[in-house]
Amino acid sequence: MMNGKLITFEGIDGSGKSTIARMLSERIGEFAVLTVEPTKSWIGKSVIRAMEEQRDPITIALLFIADRKEHLSEIEKWLDEGKLVICDRFIDSTFAYQKEHLNIPDAERWLSAVHEPFLIKPDVTFLLRITPEKAMERIEERVPALFEHASFLARVQENYLDLAERERERFVIMDAEREKEELVDECLRVLKERGIL
Ligand code: TMP
Repeated sequence: MMNGKLITFEGIDGSGKSTIARMLSERIGEFAVLTVEPTKSWIGKSVIRAMEEQRDPITIALLFIADRKEHLSEIEKWLDEGKLVICDRFIDSTFAYQKEHLNIPDAERWLSAVHEPFLIKPDVTFLLRITPEKAMERIEERVPALFEHASFLARVQENYLDLAERERERFVIMDAEREKEELVDECLRVLKERGIL
């Protein structure tokens, strides 16, 4: 039985969520497992390659979902062991990004239908909110990838906020411009409050 809990970090590129996820996992210690999407497996690498080659948006979406399906068998194993799984990006990334990238009618419904047979919902999702301009300043130190443009990221962030509005219990929106230590403290506080820690 799945006794563990799944918590996810979401946010646009440059929001700093990976750093906060890592710091939180270090603060929690052995009870936590930190994992990431796209994964480091060959399927995860194929998603990155498809993005670099600017393949068709449907191809890219299906690769993200295939990567998640494989990832879930690992996540379920950790949950069975009673771990606190911290996932840096998960399902909401697909809804927020692919909804914007896919050029098909009712992308959201299509994405839901593809995930429907296998998806598990996170217990808590921390959404790091940042102005797209500030996010781009952080990104500019590296070569911008496929989705790293201020106008695109602004729409992705709107999609995230829509998702959060619909599931207010699950989502915790945080100001990504606050001090990192403060953000980690806040995550710990929420997890304790909800009986997860
Ligand atoms: P990263 O910057 O967090 O490593 O994520 C890589 C890129 O992939 C980032 O631009 C967000 C994007 N992405 C999606 O578009 N859909 C997804 O489902 C996931 C997991 C990531």
